[in-house]
Amino acid sequence: MACPENMLFLIGLFMSGVLACFGERDLNATMPDKLDVLTGSCVQIPCSFDIPDRHRDQFNSAILPSGVWIKGSPYFGGRPDRVIFNSSEMVNRYQGKITGNMSQKNCTTVFFNVTTNYTDKYYFRIENQPFLATDTEKSVNIVVSDLPSSPILTVSGEVKEETPVSLNCSAVAPCPEHSPELTWTLPTQFTTENQLQENPDQTKSVLSTVTFTPSYHHHEKNITCTAVYPVGTSNKRAEHNMMLNVSFSPKDTSVSISPAHPVSVGSCVNLTCSSTANPPVTTFTWFQISEGNSTQVASGQSYTLNVTVDGGQYVCEARNSHGCGKSNEVQLAIKGQEETVNTMVSGVAAGTLGALLLISLISLFVWRRNSRLHDGLERTDNSQGQNSPVGTVCANQATAGEEPEKPAEDQPEEIHYGDIDFSKRQTKETPAAAQDRVQGQESEYAEVNVTGSRAQEPPLNNLDGLYAQVNKTGEC
Ligand SMILES: *[C@@H]1O[C@H](CO)[C@@H](O)[C@H](O)[C@H]1NC(C)=O
Ligand SMILES: *[C@@H]1O[C@H](CO)[C@@H](O)[C@H](O)[C@H]1NC(C)=O
Ligand SMILES: *[C@@H]1O[C@H](CO)[C@@H](O)[C@H](O)[C@H]1NC(C)=O
Ligand SMILES: *[C@@H]1O[C@H](CO)[C@@H](O)[C@H](O)[C@H]1NC(C)=O
Ligand SMILES: *[C@@H]1O[C@H](CO)[C@@H](O)[C@H](O)[C@H]1NC(C)=O
Ligand SMILES: *[C@@H]1O[C@H](CO)[C@@H](O)[C@H](O)[C@H]1NC(C)=O
Ligand SMILES: *[C@@H]1O[C@H](CO)[C@@H](O)[C@H](O)[C@H]1NC(C)=O
Ligand SMILES: *[C@@H]1O[C@H](CO)[C@@H](O)[C@H](O)[C@H]1NC(C)=O
Ligand SMILES: *[C@@H]1O[C@H](CO)[C@@H](O)[C@H](O)[C@H]1NC(C)=O
Ligand SMILES: *[C@@H]1O[C@H](CO)[C@@H](O)[C@H](O)[C@H]1NC(C)=O
Repeated sequence: MACPENMLFLIGLFMSGVLACFGERDLNATMPDKLDVLTGSCVQIPCSFDIPDRHRDQFNSAILPSGVWIKGSPYFGGRPDRVIFNSSEMVNRYQGKITGNMSQKNCTTVFFNVTTNYTDKYYFRIENQPFLATDTEKSVNIVVSDLPSSPILTVSGEVKEETPVSLNCSAVAPCPEHSPELTWTLPTQFTTENQLQENPDQTKSVLSTVTFTPSYHHHEKNITCTAVYPVGTSNKRAEHNMMLNVSFSPKDTSVSISPAHPVSVGSCVNLTCSSTANPPVTTFTWFQISEGNSTQVASGQSYTLNVTVDGGQYVCEARNSHGCGKSNEVQLAIKGQEETVNTMVSGVAAGTLGALLLISLISLFVWRRNSRLHDGLERTDNSQGQNSPVGTVCANQATAGEEPEKPAEDQPEEIHYGDIDFSKRQTKETPAAAQDRVQGQESEYAEVNVTGSRAQEPPLNNLDGLYAQVNKTGEC
């Protein structure tokens, strides 16, 4: 502040004013720099003061000092209107009260019925004859507005799925009588804890801490903290919106096939893996499932295959820093089964013939076995259909195991495939297979095994025209 203009006044009235101009304060008031206040509400100014040592002897602690608030400038000479509150006066321009205990140098003051024209800087002064001093250096900036300022939302650290997280919402409480009430809007269940807290500058805030356990469904959902100030007849509200950023392991991992199957043997097919994750998926890994074992066959979001008549099921695994997600097993259906079968048959006529013979024998054996050990499985019916056209059966059975929603194009063949299936199992894993069959519940599992077995058996390939398979050739 410019001293010269008030110098004469200060010199005339008290030496302390002069001293202030030379950089020494006669009074050290402590108060916040700024207070945000609502119209119609009150403002409590946290305040304390201290008297420099060199003036201590002038201060008469036996007498309660007056507290004076000056608006706009510390110098009120010729401007008595700047004195808006004087604790020694019965009537003041501002309705207010020093609530602090002045004997304890607590000058905390409340002004009521605040209006927008209260917005200004305010200086504090004490009068304790003969000691009179204003702190010309320190002022509090009071800013009055009709609407409350937004509460402040803070999150500490990363918000992770399935990990409880706490958020803070804090709203200024400049008027003790009109403290805000904080409420939360969250997409899930939560618990809250509210408290009045004192900030480092002595101002007060209401703090609400909410605790909840986010799931990946909450990613990019809004959460809101609303502060309601009970001022006058209508409440005043302010809110803070925040979009949740929940990190989560890959979800909804699925495989799309391009071109859509059924596909032709010898053509290229793209398997593309999609998944949602936060942060995004860093690696995609492809596995081929064969005989219950999965073998890693590729990495990358897309996996291009040269379709062959043999192969297994495929699974895609997506991974990010939080974990991984697996797709369902996918199985390709091959198109133009008849053509394919014919071609294949002519190419491998001899082998096929032998294989068919062998299969017939095995089927017969199985059929007999089944008749004897009849276990009530649907499979029994299948085996009875042994004579249906070769090949058609397989596709359906394979498909049925993996993708029930697919239309059953080749039901008769399925039966046939079932027969093969049995033979394989019996040849290779008789004890286990027998057990499975006895336990009706295991039927699905048995089918899957069969598919894998068949894929590896060369003679059986001919039967598969119907049953699409993929070869993991990198040439495509
Ligand atoms: C405060 O009020 C007292 C008592 O009326 C008066 O003596 C004093 O001058 C006033 N202070 C100011 C700064 O107006
Ligand atoms: C000063 O007085 C106010 C109001 O009475 C009180 O809330 C505050 O705690 C006091 N400050 C100190 C430092 O005693
Ligand atoms: C103010 O403080 C003084 C001294 O600490 C004490 O005697 C007096 O009772 C207090 N006044 C009030 C109103 O608390
Ligand atoms: C000031 O506010 C109080 C309630 O805080 C009310 O009772 C009083 O009438 C108001 N006074 C004026 C002058 O508006
Ligand atoms: C402040 O504004 C109110 C109306 O909003 C008015 O009644 C009052 O006189 C004004 N006070 C000052 C000091 O300008
Ligand atoms: C919330 O506030 C409490 C008390 O001030 C503090 O201990 C905690 O760290 C805060 N949490 C966040 C997320 O800011
Ligand atoms: C979410 O909050 C943003 C502001 O952060 C807002 O624009 C948007 O409308 C809100 N969406 C919903 C659904 O509430
Ligand atoms: C969300 O969180 C993730 C993981 O912490 C981070 O990589 C990403 O930048 C965040 N997104 C936004 C919009 O803050
Ligand atoms: C698929 O593989 C077969 C045998 O290796 C080959 O003849 C054919 O050209 C391949 N198809 C494509 C599209 O690469
Ligand atoms: C497979 O996907 C890759 C990348 O999307 C694309 O470049 C390629 O043309 C696709 N191939 C087929 C056969 O769809």
